Order: sequence, then C-alpha cells, then structure tokens
Amino acid sequence: MKKIVILTGAGISAESGLGTFRDEGGLWAQHRIEDVATPEGFARNPDLVHHFYNARRVQAQQARPNAAHEALARLQSASDGEVILVTQNVDDLHERAGSQNVIHMHGALSGALCASCDARWRAPLKMNRDSICPKCAAHSARPDIVWFGEMPYQMDEIYHHLREADLFAAIGTSGNVYPAAGFVQDATQFGAGTIELNLEPSATVSAFAQTSFGKATDTVPAWVESLL
Ligand code: APR
Repeated sequence: MKKIVILTGAGISAESGLGTFRDEGGLWAQHRIEDVATPEGFARNPDLVHHFYNARRVQAQQARPNAAHEALARLQSASDGEVILVTQNVDDLHERAGSQNVIHMHGALSGALCASCDARWRAPLKMNRDSICPKCAAHSARPDIVWFGEMPYQMDEIYHHLREADLFAAIGTSGNVYPAAGFVQDATQFGAGTIELNLEPSATVSAFAQTSFGKATDTVPAWVESLL
C-alpha cells in the first residue's frame, strides 16, 4: 500500500472520555450550534463561546490517547508507504499518541486566532472577551476552531492527498458534516479503496467498499495489524 489517507472524527476520542457531537447526550444535545459554533454566535455572546471552548480545552488536556490513536501512530511509523492523517477533531490526542503532521481541518483547541487581523498564537488554557491579540492588541481573540459557515483548513492539501490515495479510511465520524463527509466519494472517484471503521453505520456507509463496526479501540488496532 503506497498511500493511505485516514479521516478521523469524534468517535476515535470517545473512549478517551471526550464526548462526541451527535450521539445520544452528545455536545449538540447540550448546546445550540448557532450559539457556540458560528461566527454570529461569537459576535452575539463571546463569553458563552469562550466558556464552551475553555471547558473543552481543559477536558482535552486531561484526556489521554487511547489504543486507536496509538495504533494509527504505529501505522504511520511502521508503514512502508505514506500515511496521511486528517482529523476533524480539535483535541491533540493523535499528536500525543506520537502521530506526525496531523491535518486539523476543523482547527485546534490549542490555537488562538485574532478575529480582526488573523494573527495566530498558542491559546492559553482559558480565554475570555478581554483576551488581547498579541499582534494588533484588539480585544478580538477567538479559538482557532472552524465554525459552521467557515471554510475548513488545508483543503487543497487534503484533495491532493486524496487524489494520490490507494486507500481511504474514515474512523469514528457520523458522515454528517461536509466537505469531510464527501471524501469517500472523492477518494472512490480518484481510484482508492475505501473502508469505514465506526461504532455503527454512518450516514455515508453505502459509499464505502468495506466496513468494520465496533469500538475504535478494538477495530482500529485490528485493522492496523492487518495492514502491517
Ligand atoms: N468507537 C468508534 N466510533 C464511535 C465510538 C467509539 N467508541 N463512539 C461513537 N462513535 C461514532 C458514532 O457512532 C458516530 O458515528 O462516532 C461518530 C461521531 O459522530 P459525530 O458526533 O457526528 O462526530 P463527527 O463526525 O466527528 O462530527 C463532525 O461535526 O459539529 C461538528 O465540527 C464538529 O468536527 C465535528 C464535525
């Protein structure tokens, strides 16, 4: 296998104790997307949005990578070919498991972004409406998270990798949010094999050539072993 492109979602971090978005009792059952995950929500009530991401930042820092994150790091270091990791997750559990060059297409909790001048810096554990941009000094610091209505990061790079992929795998994602949910169709068109590893069939399951259902800590290490 020369090139494998892997897309991960909230399901891979679920067994590390981080809640998913759309499972029963998930984040979007407890918070309104419009309030905490849109630029308009941030403009209306920055403190509410900071409070939401501050809590998630602390939670993510306390979480530990699980056997699925570790298996993917092992695949990256032991594979003969190239293994590209694209994640929708804003936690850093892939990096802490030892993965390299992770593409965070929806941003990262570790990042801060100035809504005025686009400067980026490392986010402190807690931010609020008085947090100041170190470059332009505006009171417009926000989490460097891609919100609904915003363009995901590194899309050109991701499509470049999908075009070259021999195998595309989606792990722990419900297939509800585009453009990531469309990667399986793109990869198929570009000639790659496809596999879904998820707790249950996703919204896009019919687009995958192969499936493996179960907990990520079971299915991902087994899949990695089959590849190495
Ligand atoms: N192992 C494997 N899969 C799991 C596990 C587990 N232990 N627990 C849950 N899952 C699966 C669920 O069955 C579900 O299909 O993970 C998926 C999580 O789906 P979502 O909560 O919708 O998360 P995700 O697909 O990553 O969301 C995409 O939506 O709002 C946003 O920007 C946010 O990046 C996020 C995007």
